Order: sequence, then structure tokens, then C-alpha cells
Amino acid sequence: MKIFIDSANIDEIKEANALGIIDGVTTNPSLIAKEKRAALAVLKEICSLVHGPVSAEAINLDASGMIEEARQLSKIAPNIVVKIPLIQEGIKAVRVLSGEGIKTNVTLCFSLPQALIVAKAQAEYVSPFVGRLDDVSHNGMDLIRDIKQVYSNYHFKTQVIVASVRNPLHVVEAAKIGADIATIPFSVIEQLLKHPLTDIGVERFIQDYKKIPKA
Ligand code: E4P
Repeated sequence: MKIFIDSANIDEIKEANALGIIDGVTTNPSLIAKEKRAALAVLKEICSLVHGPVSAEAINLDASGMIEEARQLSKIAPNIVVKIPLIQEGIKAVRVLSGEGIKTNVTLCFSLPQALIVAKAQAEYVSPFVGRLDDVSHNGMDLIRDIKQVYSNYHFKTQVIVASVRNPLHVVEAAKIGADIATIPFSVIEQLLKHPLTDIGVERFIQDYKKIPKA
């Protein structure tokens, strides 16, 4: 499973990148707004740090506006993927953009029929939001399971990005299901590698090392 970092924060992206486990980045307008810098500058810097796909979201809501915005965004760097909202106009835009070779990540997916439409439109990625489904008492990971089954039934090429990840269990479940990608906030990446027994073990080895006679 590929791991993307879900962040627009340069320090977080640098730190996660230093771990050598990051395959790409997803951003959204809310994440970029937190950085209090121009979106273009933030996206350019992220693309200079990470060679894998970097998702940048289109904010126009009509197909022609989205297509034009996507063309502009894709000029930032060759690894830009344009995030398109899963609305009727968005699906029209995806079809045109895939024809032009511009990769799209269709975002805000909350149901299986929506995911089916995204695959038929030949998007590169679909992003089902598991945490936001959990928030409204629907099991987000059940949706990932269903999408993977249907995509595999028909050999659809659209890759599933598990998004709105809130905790390590979402990542574990995503990996068990065989999701293509999980996009993970930095705080959850940190949680993934933590285990109290590791910390206790490290501390014990350090203390015991001090008891070893020096030659
Ligand atoms: C995905 O691409 C989105 O940026 C993100 O996962 C949304 O997560 P949230 O529900 O925590 O805002």
C-alpha cells in the first residue's frame, strides 16, 4: 500500500519525507489555508520536495472552469494531480482531463455508486472519506471494502485513496482490505510507528548497557 501525507505543512512534509516512506501528498483548501501563504507558493514548494503525486484541489464548480483551473494547476509541476469534487460538473471535467493526460483525484466520495461513476469517468484516483463517514455513524472502511470489490470485478484502473484518515486503525484496515493508497495526517504517521513496549525496551537496553564493564 502506498502512503501519502495529507498535509500542506512544509515542516511535516519534510519530516515525513525524511522517514523515506512517503509516496505522495494530498492537500485541500482547508489544509492550505492553515499555512497562511499563497496556494501557488505552497504547492510549488511541496512539488520540489516530493517526487510522487501531489494533489491540488480545483475550486471552480462548473466543468469549464474546473478544466481551465486544472490546466493551470498542472503547469506547477509534472507531478501535480488535480483534485476534482465529486459533483456532476466534476465528472464532466474528469472525462475531458483524462483525455488530455491530466491526472485527477476525485474527492469527497461517500458512496459506492459515486465511486462507480468515478471509475467509469477514468479518473486516476478516487478519495473516499472514511473519517467523515464514521462521524455520521456509517462505517467508512465498509465503503473501501465495497469499492475494492467492485473495481476488482471489472478491472477498473482508478486507484483508491483512503482519505479522512483519523487513526492508526483506519490505516491497518486499509492495508488488510488492499487499498491502493492511504493518505495520512502527520500526527497519525507518528502514531503508526509508536509502541509503548518499544519505548520500554529501548530504555531498558540503555540502562543495561550502562552496567556493562568498560573493557
Ligand atoms: C483527502 O484528500 C483530504 O484532504 C482529507 O483526507 C480530508 O480529511 P478530513 O476529513 O480530516 O478533513
